[in-house]
Amino acid sequence: MSVLIKTVGFSLGLTLVFTGVANMLPQVEGDAPVDVKVDLSALTMDDFVAMGEDLFNNKGTCTLCHKPAPLGRAPDVQGTNMVAITTERLADERYQGKATDAASYILESMLEPSAYVVAGWGKKGSDDAESPMPAVDKPPIQLSDIEVDAIIAYLQAKDGNEVTVALPSPDAAAEVAKSDAAPGGAGAAPAPAASGEEGLAKYTCTACHALDSDDTLVGPGLGSVGARLSEGEIRQSIIDPNAVIAEGFPAAMPGDFAEKMTVRELEMIVKLLAEKKQ
Ligand code: HEC
Ligand code: HEC
Repeated sequence: MSVLIKTVGFSLGLTLVFTGVANMLPQVEGDAPVDVKVDLSALTMDDFVAMGEDLFNNKGTCTLCHKPAPLGRAPDVQGTNMVAITTERLADERYQGKATDAASYILESMLEPSAYVVAGWGKKGSDDAESPMPAVDKPPIQLSDIEVDAIIAYLQAKDGNEVTVALPSPDAAAEVAKSDAAPGGAGAAPAPAASGEEGLAKYTCTACHALDSDDTLVGPGLGSVGARLSEGEIRQSIIDPNAVIAEGFPAAMPGDFAEKMTVRELEMIVKLLAEKKQ
């Protein structure tokens, strides 16, 4: 708690410095979702499914892109019976992955998004050969095996389909407990990012933006954004993304970063991006 208060104090200090921004930013974070400890030995399948739903909507950041049309930047996974659609996907002549059923198809979609790209949703210019979706077991999303299974269970169960993934064995509890004890793990409020790089990962900017090139993922590549936009414009595009929409792009950038970031995190990110001039 004292760390949090210190952070708040620091943020407030900086708020006075960045007065222009201060009006638009609340001074505190701290209400970001906090991981909950799970007792795996007492876990029922209903709990596991509920955990998967929560992961999909929150920590997994799936809803950054997977929303109902016309808002979504990806197929509406929650609004689709994924078990039924799997039959179509696997029968597609373009399908060259290794999945044999819904659970393995959903798993492959999450870990190797480019194994099969849903028609029309490929990375710009890739002719549907490359997916803009980040692998969810890698940074910035970085879900564990158990979390990935929970999402599969949720996607099967939500339309009344049989859940075919197994509950995590209680032996896995030790592993979960261990990572919980790590700094920033469950129970701790998310630590403020210590650098611009950490900030970009913490706020999953890299799920939608390439940082070292101008390749388009969901949003424009930021490899030379500093040559294109001033610091002020970069700051505005983060805290008020719909004020100016980059040409040729949908207004798909989340609008709530200003509520989540500390002023210091914002300024570190802005500085880092402003230096990207290639
Ligand atoms: C940065 C945007 C983005 C994020 C974040 C994202 N996805 Fe995706 N996802 C896509 C896009 C775009 C596609 C379609 C292209 C493809 O097939 O890979 C896709 C495809 C999929 C598919 C296949 C859908 C189908 O109709 O066959 C599944 C399943 C899926 N995503 C699950 C997830 C889950 C679960 C998460 C969160 C843990 C997630 N995605 C996070 C962009 C995203
Ligand atoms: C769900 C995907 C998504 C996420 C997550 C996301 N962005 Fe964006 N971003 C976009 C899209 C789409 C655009 C282009 C449309 C627009 O200008 O709003 C964009 C535009 C931008 C621009 C303007 C680029 C230009 O060339 O005009 C900047 C800078 C930027 N984002 C930075 C960030 C930062 C920093 C984060 C993390 C704090 C972030 N974005 C998170 C999708 C995303």
